[in-house]
Amino acid sequence: MLFSVDQVLEMDRSEIRRLYSEYVNPGFISLLKLLDFDKRFVKAEGVEVWDQDGNVYLDFLGAFGALNLGHNPPEVWAALEKARVCHPTNLLQALPGAAAAALAHNLAQVTPGELKRCFFTNSGTETVEAALKMSRAATGRGTILYCEGSFHGKTFGSLSVTGREKYQKPFAPLLPGCEKVPYGDLAALESRLQASEVAAFIVEPIQGEGGVRVPPEGYLKAAEELCHKYGTLLIVDEIQTGLGRTGRLFACEHEGVRPDIMCISKSLGGGLVPIGACIATEKVWNAAYGGLDRCMLHTSTFGGNTLACLAGIAALEAIVQRRLWENAAELGSYMLNGLKAIGARCPAVKEVRGRGLLIGVEFDQPVKGLLDKVTAGMINKAADEYIGAMVAGELLNRHHVITAYTLNNPNVMRLEPPLTVTREQVNRVLQAVEEVLSQRKSFWGLAVSTAKTAAASLFKGA
Ligand SMILES: Cc1ncc(COP(=O)(O)O)c(C=O)c1O
Repeated sequence: MLFSVDQVLEMDRSEIRRLYSEYVNPGFISLLKLLDFDKRFVKAEGVEVWDQDGNVYLDFLGAFGALNLGHNPPEVWAALEKARVCHPTNLLQALPGAAAAALAHNLAQVTPGELKRCFFTNSGTETVEAALKMSRAATGRGTILYCEGSFHGKTFGSLSVTGREKYQKPFAPLLPGCEKVPYGDLAALESRLQASEVAAFIVEPIQGEGGVRVPPEGYLKAAEELCHKYGTLLIVDEIQTGLGRTGRLFACEHEGVRPDIMCISKSLGGGLVPIGACIATEKVWNAAYGGLDRCMLHTSTFGGNTLACLAGIAALEAIVQRRLWENAAELGSYMLNGLKAIGARCPAVKEVRGRGLLIGVEFDQPVKGLLDKVTAGMINKAADEYIGAMVAGELLNRHHVITAYTLNNPNVMRLEPPLTVTREQVNRVLQAVEEVLSQRKSFWGLAVSTAKTAAASLFKGA
């Protein structure tokens, strides 16, 4: 028997768990079960998501930055609906696509500096691959510098510049010539730039997955100047920070940085269609791919397809017309201050940081062995690695607020709602965080509470 679309739309939570565990990833299901995190969501609009029992949740995770416009944005559906009615060619690579050409034009108008020429991809990691390849082809140099704690994706090239050993180690050897420098450290960057011919320095304006780490003020601008001094290209990865998230359309604009290459993805597809864009200056693009002989060196079957580019055009237009970065700046600083005040009253909170609507709450590392006493070892491993996730589990199950931990730093819970979020929704989340954290003032209390939730979910079975 093969499942039909109608059956999928009706499928219940235990059937999804069973199938996912059997055919996709059993470990992932076990982890979610441990934290009672696997709801069956049936509908989503804007910041709100409904489960199969009709409960409403606030999505303050926002698909790791892919939902700047919220769930199911009407503007983006309208663009796709127009395409459904007109039936344009979606994939016909022998011809230049109108939608790809227009989206590239629009991106060139709104991105900083002289960024102009676009290569379209289907994900963030693929966008980073395009940027890395372009930097080598354009400069003829081999070395690529990246930062400790960075996250640029998990395919081979992007993984080679992702600063977390846990993700890199099982896949060694990775791409040669990739070297790590400390994030925010200009002296270390300059000494590496001096030491050898470096093709590119790839950097996030704020490290999202690294635990929402904000570099010292002026770092990005000074890094740009150093790169130019040594003939190295600056690749700014705005895959998570871009499209309004941090209070400007692109985070590097806070310091007036003009990258040689920029990576954009996530919210460019309006949360409905996968798309990424690697945009470079004309000079860099020409050096890499100029001329008949080189113009087909880097290609993609689905890159630049009409549906994805129409979604991109509509999503960009909606973000720009509604000036969503302004809401991100205003409600972001309101939420940051609210969380800082809560954190100051809760010893389990080490730091609250962020910019715009990209905010991280860092917890103190749990004391090893502590949870063993509470749970007879049951969730010791989870607590050791996933304290951010445990708090997120509490918010989900007790307060119907969706958040998550950051990939490179599981002690950090991230808050990254759609940029359409309202002050009232922010207030509800602040109250929920306050209740989860301040009622259990110490990590000890938090651990007991989350352990109880986890135990309950385990004994629920299925
Ligand atoms: C800064 C940054 N770059 C690249 C990526 C990889 O994107 P994707 O998961 O679409 O491959 C991510 C994903 O979180 C990211 O945050």
